[in-house]
Amino acid sequence: MNTKITGTGSFLPEKIVTNFDMEKLVDTQDAWIRERTGIASRHISTGETVSSIAAKAAKEALLMAGKQPGEVEMIIVATCSPEMLLPCCACQVQSILGCSNAVAFDLNAACSGFLFALNAATAYIKTGLYKNALVIGAEVLSKIVDWTDRSTCVLFGDGAGAAFLEATEEENIGMLSLSQGSDGARGMVLACEDRDVVNPFTEKKEQILPGYVTMNGQEVYKFAVRQVPASILDALNKANLTVEEIDHFVLHQANIRIIEAVAKRLKVPMDKFPTNLERVGNMSSATIPVLLDEINRAGKLKKGDKLVMSGFGAGLTYGAGVYIWG
Ligand code: UT7
Repeated sequence: MNTKITGTGSFLPEKIVTNFDMEKLVDTQDAWIRERTGIASRHISTGETVSSIAAKAAKEALLMAGKQPGEVEMIIVATCSPEMLLPCCACQVQSILGCSNAVAFDLNAACSGFLFALNAATAYIKTGLYKNALVIGAEVLSKIVDWTDRSTCVLFGDGAGAAFLEATEEENIGMLSLSQGSDGARGMVLACEDRDVVNPFTEKKEQILPGYVTMNGQEVYKFAVRQVPASILDALNKANLTVEEIDHFVLHQANIRIIEAVAKRLKVPMDKFPTNLERVGNMSSATIPVLLDEINRAGKLKKGDKLVMSGFGAGLTYGAGVYIWG
């Protein structure tokens, strides 16, 4: 049993915030942001929630796959910025779209989230438990970013992407191999605290408001530049493929310098690395599915094309998967 992506979709909030808009908020310059990150603008929610944009992206994916909401068997939403602790975002999406026959749950692996969710859905389908899955990466990071911290607020954007995955009997298709890992011991280099433990039995009586994203950018950078190529090579090795045989490297869009460094390490030309971060910034779990949808709708994915998807982020988490487009 193999799996096949039969539909993709994405949604970006209407409001576009440019680097010049950022200059009015913090002590930064368009040139600094472009040179250090490759980002020129990002989409920012003016009220849209994670579940609302996730549902919009998912609706597009279902439309492309030609499926009705009632046919969906599983929904996994990868997010680290849900609007509710309970219920989970996937159940909210289920409710919005009317996917009443699906089992729905969230998965938080930050920027690696979509890839981990895709791998989880693949595993469920391959065992025969479900025949299809809606896999979504969605974030409204603008609400957990500190808009007074220039070292982080310029990096992130809001958006959602989705893929509809189905079981298929076709040979040589779908996820060929994967490589996943986590390094929790170094997790605090990229963090965001939720509420503190305050209850009638704790010494602390005052609840501190949930915090904002904090990041040691250089540590995350070094981690990414080392770990992403290693994960990709591991996944390729498992698939018995070489880097030269890959048509598209769909990487987490955090920083163009990271993508360029990965390309250099793998000795692969940059034209095999599609990018959109200049327009959308880092949308954590949404970056890979939004980019996948954009290149799919642009007609750049042909049957039999070999893709590598790779992500890294808070956790720390990292991974790569080799996927044959069907
Ligand atoms: O999804 C995973 C999420 N995270 C990442 O992928 C982050 C990975 N890391 C990075 O992308 C980079 O480390 C950053 C883009 C975050 C920072 O770039 P950098 O080249 O590592 O800069 P830096 O932190 O070494 O800072 C250099 C200088 C500092 O000034 P001083 O101390 O040299 O005077 C910063 O204060 O740049 C300053 N700076 C800024 N200047 C203008 C930091 N942020 C800004 C800013 N505008 N927005």
